Amino acid sequence: MSTTYTVGYFVGSLSTNSINRLLAKALVNLAPPELTMVEIPFRDLPLYSTDYDTNYPTTCTKLKDTIDAADAVLFVTPEYNRSIPGGLKNAIDWASRPYGKNSFTRKPSATIGTSPASIGTAIAQQHLKSLLSFCNSPQMNAPEAYIQFKPGLITADGKVTVESTEDFLRNYMKEFYGFIGRVYTAIPRRSQA
Ligand code: FNR
Repeated sequence: MSTTYTVGYFVGSLSTNSINRLLAKALVNLAPPELTMVEIPFRDLPLYSTDYDTNYPTTCTKLKDTIDAADAVLFVTPEYNRSIPGGLKNAIDWASRPYGKNSFTRKPSATIGTSPASIGTAIAQQHLKSLLSFCNSPQMNAPEAYIQFKPGLITADGKVTVESTEDFLRNYMKEFYGFIGRVYTAIPRRSQA
């Protein structure tokens, strides 16, 4: 029997018309059946300050608990001003603290994103990869996924209308499944550590 994993995913955009949310829906639809996909919301988090470290608000403890419960994390993010949106960075800061309780350590991750521009969030993802390196998250290096969004590429219910893109995204999720398995072959899951 195949091993199953829970993947927590962040949608970096808070926009109601988000093209990255469409991409996330498509990825959930195309994920192998061995992956259970669970969104990690961050809209309601306050702005992080070390003042909270001794007394995390419930929303922030919940964020950390959701990440802790996931075997891996997937970031589906827009590019804002050549980086990731501030809300997503704030969520990463919360999850990485208090010192010594970084929720991302040893947690496999992958990044993907879409933009109307031809570089398809490449620079934002490079920033994000740098953050995840510091947070000690083993990252899937390949395939990289910089998706240029054209109107109609993904429907409201997450169906990809271009076959080559659908194949690429399905393979991306299959590769992520394989990557998670390889990480846990080398590093025991935290509950087993
Ligand atoms: C953008 N956009 C953008 N696009 C890009 O390719 N590189 C960039 O640096 C930026 N910068 C940027 C800053 C801000 C504040 C906004 C609002 C937008 C355009 C962006 O790709 C587009 O709005 C997408 O639709 C954002 O993704 P969501 O929110 O629809 O998922």
